[in-house]
Amino acid sequence: MFTVKPLESPLAKAVEAPMHGSTVEVHLNDGSYLPTGEKPRKPTHCVLTPKFVTQAERIHHLTVYEDDVWILSFPKCGTTWTQEMVWLISHDLDYRTASEVNLLDRSVFLEFSAFVLNYPGDTIEQVEKATRPRHIQCHLPIALLPKQIWTVRPKLIYCARNPKDASVSFFHHYRHLHGYRGPMPDFLDALLTDQILFGPQIPHTLDYWNVRREMNILFLHFEEMKTNMSDVLRRVCRYFGKSYSDQQLATLEKHLSFDVMKNNKSANNSCVLELVESLSGKKVENFQFMRKGKIGSHTEELSEEYIKRFDEYITKHLEGTDFRFK
Ligand code: A3P
Repeated sequence: MFTVKPLESPLAKAVEAPMHGSTVEVHLNDGSYLPTGEKPRKPTHCVLTPKFVTQAERIHHLTVYEDDVWILSFPKCGTTWTQEMVWLISHDLDYRTASEVNLLDRSVFLEFSAFVLNYPGDTIEQVEKATRPRHIQCHLPIALLPKQIWTVRPKLIYCARNPKDASVSFFHHYRHLHGYRGPMPDFLDALLTDQILFGPQIPHTLDYWNVRREMNILFLHFEEMKTNMSDVLRRVCRYFGKSYSDQQLATLEKHLSFDVMKNNKSANNSCVLELVESLSGKKVENFQFMRKGKIGSHTEELSEEYIKRFDEYITKHLEGTDFRFK
């Protein structure tokens, strides 16, 4: 069903990190069951790990329910933010449960245990056993989603983000959570040559963009959430058939603001840091999952040369498509 190609270049080896180990490319052999969308395209492969390969078929055959809510994204594109927003809107703004039950348990990261070495739990089983309607968070590209997604047609929400900001955010994530100790240029070079976990980002986004109408995907951008959250909230409410007063929406917008979410223990992923500390036996220092939460923060860290290389990389990937990052 899948073809697996080990990533063996010196750069791929240099960016291996203790949390996930070595990497492989996972290619779907026959994608003829996938929706064609607006323009037929070969669905992208994905950089994952040998451990993931042992779970790939299990995910492929996962039972999907019509009332599932899938939050789909490339890492560091505003996944957590989208999860909290979607959970609250679809649960009648139940702030009480949201504060009592951690977002990780309300909205389960499907493939987490499939790539984190030494993780003692089974997040795929957690999804299988979750109370319906299940909220499922997933970074996989369309080629690696459960096959039933395309026939059962649950709710699908995709969140995109400009690759320059997402890449810098991912570098800090790799360094502090995955235990990567190498320099930033190696990480960026690996990313620009599609050798970083879950990559390549742009084809990941384009595959979802291409099928968004056919699959009724609610397609969001990090940047819209930042600049026009009230409009995003109205779109999400429409998608879920919910109606809230202006006052309720203003309260929700405040709840989802960076400063409030940063201090919300139930939704700021501080427990991921605690988990990483217990798995690695090392303290996570000078890092918070809610890091900057800004548009354009890459300009503070990327050199002119890398900005140019990223711009060229983005232009090349978007050529001939009608998709643009915001
Ligand atoms: P930065 O590292 O650029 O700050 P994900 O949840 O997909 O891993 O995305 C994490 C990114 O989203 C981080 O970006 C984080 O700060 C940002 N983020 C999370 N919640 C946010 C919020 N409420 N407002 C703005 N940015 C947020």
